[in-house]
Amino acid sequence: MLKTFYRSHACDELSEKNIDKEVQLVGWVDRRRDHGGLIFIDLRDRFGITQIVTDPELSGNAHKIFETVRPEWVLQIIGKVRARPAGQENSKMATGKIEILVSEVKVLNEAETPPFEIADENDENEEVRLKFRYLDLRRKRLQSNIVLRHKLLQATRKFFYDQDFVEIETPILIKGTPEGAREYIVPSRVHAGKFYVLPQSPQQLKQLSMVAGFDRYMQIARCFRDEDQRGDRQPEFTQMDLEMSFVDSEDVMNVNEAALIAITKECRPDAKLKFEKFPRLTFDDAMNRYGSDKPDLRYELEFNDISEECKGCGFGIFANVVESGGVIKILRVPSGAKFSRKDIEELTEAAKIYGAKGLAWIKISEKFEGVPVEKLGADLTKKIVDKCGGEKDDILLFAADEWETACNSLGAVRIAVAEKLKLLEGKENEFAFAWITDFPMFAKDGETGELASIHHPFTRPKNPADLDSDPLKARAEAYDVILNGYEIGGGSVRIHERDLQKKIFDILKISDEDAERRFGHILKAFSFGAPPHGGIAWGLDRIAMLFAGEPNIREVIAFPKTNKAEDLMLGAPDIIPAEQLKEANIRSTADVKKTKRDVFLEIVELLESNKIKFEKLEHAPVKTSAEAAQVRGTTLEQAARALVWKTENGYIQSVCSAAKEVDEAKLKKVAEVKKLELAKPEEVKKITGCEIGCVPPFGNLFDLPVFVDKSLEPEEIIVFNAGEHTKSIKMPFADYIKIIGSKTSEFAK
Ligand code: AMO
Repeated sequence: MLKTFYRSHACDELSEKNIDKEVQLVGWVDRRRDHGGLIFIDLRDRFGITQIVTDPELSGNAHKIFETVRPEWVLQIIGKVRARPAGQENSKMATGKIEILVSEVKVLNEAETPPFEIADENDENEEVRLKFRYLDLRRKRLQSNIVLRHKLLQATRKFFYDQDFVEIETPILIKGTPEGAREYIVPSRVHAGKFYVLPQSPQQLKQLSMVAGFDRYMQIARCFRDEDQRGDRQPEFTQMDLEMSFVDSEDVMNVNEAALIAITKECRPDAKLKFEKFPRLTFDDAMNRYGSDKPDLRYELEFNDISEECKGCGFGIFANVVESGGVIKILRVPSGAKFSRKDIEELTEAAKIYGAKGLAWIKISEKFEGVPVEKLGADLTKKIVDKCGGEKDDILLFAADEWETACNSLGAVRIAVAEKLKLLEGKENEFAFAWITDFPMFAKDGETGELASIHHPFTRPKNPADLDSDPLKARAEAYDVILNGYEIGGGSVRIHERDLQKKIFDILKISDEDAERRFGHILKAFSFGAPPHGGIAWGLDRIAMLFAGEPNIREVIAFPKTNKAEDLMLGAPDIIPAEQLKEANIRSTADVKKTKRDVFLEIVELLESNKIKFEKLEHAPVKTSAEAAQVRGTTLEQAARALVWKTENGYIQSVCSAAKEVDEAKLKKVAEVKKLELAKPEEVKKITGCEIGCVPPFGNLFDLPVFVDKSLEPEEIIVFNAGEHTKSIKMPFADYIKIIGSKTSEFAK
């Protein structure tokens, strides 16, 4: 099937059946072994490896060429398939029983020495791997991950296609979506000052497809979110996005559950599904029992709540927490009594990340041991141990805090315990899917105290009446699907009625005007007969990562970005030539620093943004302060003389009246430096981008510490060149001091 002009077979195809056949192969040199007489090469293509060999007696010129080839050269060979000598077979390789005796070779391309060996699957520095991603992608690990991902995409499309879903491509240049993450924005050339955004998801467009009557939509969709990156997050990622009309949440969950089972079986036939029917946990349940809304259910480790038992108990910390509305939770770790002091310290650190103040514990041996024992008293301790089924050699770990902190911190401890006890060893092929349901509709924003949607504002409340009584108690008709400790998908049934939608906007304090501006298009669409609808989106990168058994989604993305959202191979993001920026109607302040700075404009912007009154002066070029005073019509005293100095601690700037000179000894004292010499013109240019003589007294624009002399204090107004010999700024001295943020000192004479 792979026969082309260049080859008769791929590198995984030949076996004993082909012995004596003349074949033509192409591929990269994976390894080369010179055995004095014979030279062996492992020839590699995407499909596999075939051993090719030259014999000085039999291969003629090909042998001479084999003496010179190096790893990663691209070869085309012609030769005959022969059995490997007895004892030299490799049962691990598909082609391990044969080799090709080469008669002709053509070097299709030579290769520089790669920055890492392709044949060795060593974990080099990830930066180098990402910079030379196309070489990393030649390796088996990534090749099989990318092929697995391809299979996942195909199996997904096929499943939904068979269920009457239609794949609809939605645009990438859109208007903002209210989904929480920061958006990437794209300037419009045609509409100056206006922007598109890249979709965080096709949420509104898929809902509009329902209004359009498509009934069952799906799309393998690229999404963009400008948020902090983690191992399971990328700035651009891929969703299987889905929406259905005339459904309730059961319908959506059922079709997705069937899809995930079918796709797992197809892509990972060796996988063991822990649950053939996905368990359902409410959000409260998941938090109360596992301390996470995406618990790894491959291991048990459940919490018990002993808040009731601890009411008014002798352990003041516990009693107070319960008194003030908090909870006491216990994680019982079977055989955990063996944890050392260091182990417990590490678990405490894990708890503290989520705000816990500490981690109390009781070890069960012949007796009970641990701080709470004495304080709780023998009876209560026994009652608590019995409640959580404590047995000899167990440890009980306690979280006492407000509900969320207690759950989250003990949830982190649960994960750390599983790692310490290696509970996941041998479970690499186990897949524990589950649904999390009944999420709260809203949460209080920590900063503003206002309510914000947990999912998005189009999510349907389970019981709309709750919106009137206590919105924080209202639960959403929303569901997440989780797998082995990761959220792999989330969705909801939507609101399709204008009135209910308006009520949500009211709770979110989105005014009619604002709602109209932001979502007018979708609200309008809903007035034309929107069907009841709901949907979900899966994070395909996360599913691929879990299917591939990788720890990070970068390993299943062909060309991923780093944790800092950079593409090291392409060098993106990058600065854009000023001309191109101008065409897009934008000016980059960050960029100006790297290319030519417009210092005058920067100062004007700085003063304007601080609402300071100032005057811009344009005049004939001036070189000296006396000349300047003349053309500006101001006094020499009012002119600010700004000088750049080199010290042992770097460069600094002094500012004094042009009628004075700097007393270097005094400036040294003020600046607390030992060495002081005027910076050379080329140094000044390099640091400030300005010619000597027109550096403005705003050294902090160039990261220079600024020292201002008292000589300017008597002046109400000061004047100075601002980056150019032909431009000056005249402004109140008091405002200047305010902006510069430094006090005056005395160093001029
Ligand atoms: P949500 O925001 O929950 O829902 O996203 C759906 C799934 O996408 C994955 N995911 C990510 N994967 C990699 N990198 C990221 N930065 C990233 N962010 C999210 C997760 C998540 O479960 N429009 C709604 C869906 C709906 O309501 O139908 C949405 O996007 O696995």
